[in-house]
Amino acid sequence: MQYRNFGNTGVKVSALGFGMMRLPVLGEDSAAIDEELANTMLHRAIDAGLNYVDTAWSYHREQGEPFVGRALAGGYREKVYLATKLPTWLVHSQDDMERFLDAQLTRLQTDHIDFYLLHSMNAEKWQNLTRLKVFDWAEGKRAEGKFHFFGFSFHDDLEVFEQILNGYDAWDFCQIQYNYMDVDYQAGRKGLQEAAQKGLGVVIMEPLRGGQLAQNPPPAAVAQVFAQSPRQWTPAEWALQWLWNQPVVSLVLSGMSTLQQVGENLASAERSGVGLLKPADLQIIEQVRNVRQGLAPIPCTHCEYCLPCPNDVAIPEIFALYNEAMMYGAPEHSRYAYRNFFNPENKADQCIECGTCESLCPQNIEIIEWLKTAHSFLQPSQS
Ligand SMILES: NC(=O)c1ccc[n+]([C@@H]2O[C@H](COP(=O)([O-])OP(=O)(O)OC[C@H]3O[C@@H](n4cnc5c(N)ncnc54)[C@H](OP(=O)(O)O)[C@@H]3O)[C@@H](O)[C@H]2O)c1
Repeated sequence: MQYRNFGNTGVKVSALGFGMMRLPVLGEDSAAIDEELANTMLHRAIDAGLNYVDTAWSYHREQGEPFVGRALAGGYREKVYLATKLPTWLVHSQDDMERFLDAQLTRLQTDHIDFYLLHSMNAEKWQNLTRLKVFDWAEGKRAEGKFHFFGFSFHDDLEVFEQILNGYDAWDFCQIQYNYMDVDYQAGRKGLQEAAQKGLGVVIMEPLRGGQLAQNPPPAAVAQVFAQSPRQWTPAEWALQWLWNQPVVSLVLSGMSTLQQVGENLASAERSGVGLLKPADLQIIEQVRNVRQGLAPIPCTHCEYCLPCPNDVAIPEIFALYNEAMMYGAPEHSRYAYRNFFNPENKADQCIECGTCESLCPQNIEIIEWLKTAHSFLQPSQS
């Protein structure tokens, strides 16, 4: 296993960390973790030198932390740095912070958390938690030894990221979404560099865009670009090596779902290193990025001029899901999101064809027709 410096903490972490958000489950219920398989996967990774495990209050409908507690009992806890997160959206007082942390220590069967994060920070949660003086509370808990390092995970715009990063001078680390397609998304490359420059360890989440960058085979046009390289890497390995190549990346978290993925990603981490990618490799990634962007059929820029729709259709989000399905060759990811994260009243079949949106769209997109196409693709059985 390769190990990397974790910002200014003095800690060395394995290049690959295990994200506990996508464990194998029995059937459709995300709370029904396949414990036997998940245990084998986690132990296999730790036995190979992986030393960072990332979970959260909410994962697997709150069954993630109790599972991790059981899986690490009997000697594995001492071999890893354990990270978990305060469920910020449920916090209304310092008493809540206290209650969650204590419950997490119990669930995780440990007397301390190594890396404690404010989960999924954005502008609204930042405002709420600063009002509740979260830093006074956190410094007290750190002094008591209940956790050792303090950080935040992030989902909002760069401007908000900079506000949070510069709004407290004792952050140890942060966790951001970053991959070769999301270079200018949320914190992005700029946020990553700013955090590293301030001495924070930077943990990367969604390195494979939740699996979209790992589709194998990828869309044909993408496969053709990868085939130009003598490297025998899978699409997943290309995405991971692109991250490890960057010195400002401290750790890449992967939410592995099968034993095979664990084996492949451990082997990739073993081969990894800053400077591994040569100019020709970086060109391949650049080309793949351009080809994927070119595969998006709807030229929507998410400017939102089309909103509000008089009938509340979520036009830009629907177009983004449809475009992603084409860019990544992963229709199931988009269909899952459309099924589970969209209210029926915001779906494309609610369009009444009034045309208000089309008169406002600066890209002159034929929105009404594209909504019909997107709906029948994203919800095939019911269209
Ligand atoms: N703090 C936050 O707000 C937040 C948000 C998101 C994630 N996270 C954390 O970050 C971790 C990593 O993010 P992520 O789970 O989205 O990671 P990811 O690596 O982008 O996606 C994981 C998915 O990629 C696929 N995959 C992984 N390795 C593969 C391989 N070798 N070959 C083919 N497919 C592979 C699997 O999808 P299939 O099973 O579909 O094949 C797997 O479920 C999470 O587990 C969680 O711990 C935190």
